[in-house]
Amino acid sequence: MGAVCPCIGRTEERDLAVQSSITEVQPSKSEAKRLKKLEKKELQKGQFGQKKRDKKKEQKQRRQGARHELLAAMSQEERDAFIAKEKAAQQVQQAEEQASLQLAFDSGAPKVVVNCSFADSMDYKELTSLAKQCQLSYTAVRDLRSPVQLHLASLSPDNPGMYALDKVGYQKWLVHTHPESVWDLFEPDQLVVLSPDAEMDLDEVRSDRIYVIGGLVDRTIQRNQTKAQAESRGNVTLRKLPIKSLGPPGMFPVLNIDVVVSILHERFIRGPDSSWRDILLHCMPQRQHPGPSRQVLRKERAKMRKEGMTEEQIAAAMGADAGSDNQSDGAASNDSDVSDGEEAEPQVPDLRQGTDIEVVGFGFAKIISLGRVPQGKHQGKYKIRYNDDGSLYHVLPEQFRVVTAVQPAET
Ligand SMILES: C[S@@+](CC[C@H](N)C(=O)[O-])C[C@H]1O[C@@H](n2cnc3c(N)ncnc32)[C@H](O)[C@@H]1O
Repeated sequence: MGAVCPCIGRTEERDLAVQSSITEVQPSKSEAKRLKKLEKKELQKGQFGQKKRDKKKEQKQRRQGARHELLAAMSQEERDAFIAKEKAAQQVQQAEEQASLQLAFDSGAPKVVVNCSFADSMDYKELTSLAKQCQLSYTAVRDLRSPVQLHLASLSPDNPGMYALDKVGYQKWLVHTHPESVWDLFEPDQLVVLSPDAEMDLDEVRSDRIYVIGGLVDRTIQRNQTKAQAESRGNVTLRKLPIKSLGPPGMFPVLNIDVVVSILHERFIRGPDSSWRDILLHCMPQRQHPGPSRQVLRKERAKMRKEGMTEEQIAAAMGADAGSDNQSDGAASNDSDVSDGEEAEPQVPDLRQGTDIEVVGFGFAKIISLGRVPQGKHQGKYKIRYNDDGSLYHVLPEQFRVVTAVQPAET
């Protein structure tokens, strides 16, 4: 082996050190901390998504297994009759759905327009979510056998949300799609623009009005977008849903498009004398419903399964309102991380863990913690436990009054 001049090695070392100092610029301490946090968040998001997919798969397999067992216990004759009956019922349901959709398309009222002109301000994920919410609006109209006539406006070929809508198959839907904007399509005095930032509450839903929903999914809060666009068009009627004034405690003030469609349908069908509170409660996203959280219910169900209870026994024990593992957020989901800017931070600084409160109209409770969304962001809601039955809720500060405040700890 030939001798190697020691200076060559040293030069190489020096070169490498220089190179690495060029390529690996050390981030500052706070930047490194931020990057680490971001990395952790991404990892958690990925794990959460995988967990959700695995669970869905497992549920599907469980359902298929149960069906397989049921069919296996039948004779060939019984099985054939069962499958034929199932098919016939499916055909009837499909025919009914189609007839109802066609009627709404041809002559339905009121008109509900999703204003898709905000697509430029949304990212890929938000556009995918928007398309999903349009799809859920369509399936809500179908499943409710609703008279609502759905329109999608501002769907010109260069709309950035087009690819996502294509992906969910919007071309096959029985809805009216327009390249024109809502402002070019309809008379302004017929329009009722819905915005969570409007000053006045919506009351009646009338067949001769056109209700405009902003095609917006703002995962990071951007208030006033729908309102600002409407106001730039002059004298347009702006209304918000009466969630804060009449809604059930814990209901989030900014809803997904499909939930708004369902609420409009219910108010229209039930009439102007119906109870807004009942309607909002009925359409409220499942995870905001009063009572034990979904996680608590899931744990309960898992425990019962472990104890050998069948799915039917579990369903009976949990009651109809408790939902099931198979329950999707469906039409009542709220998949945007939007929160009302006003409630973004705790507004009453002396509200803390242990504070006794009374939730107006619901009873006495104790604050458990300030509510947080999964990513750890303040949502401005307080997690509370009712004194009488121990059930957990999330409520906004304006929905309760303090009975005894806990003194802040001395620092
Ligand atoms: C996710 S929200 C978008 C909120 C957005 N920050 C904005 O500026 O309107 C999508 C649409 O649903 C409707 N919407 C949601 N919550 C509402 C509420 N509480 N009252 C009235 N409309 C609502 C509005 O039409 C809104 O444009």
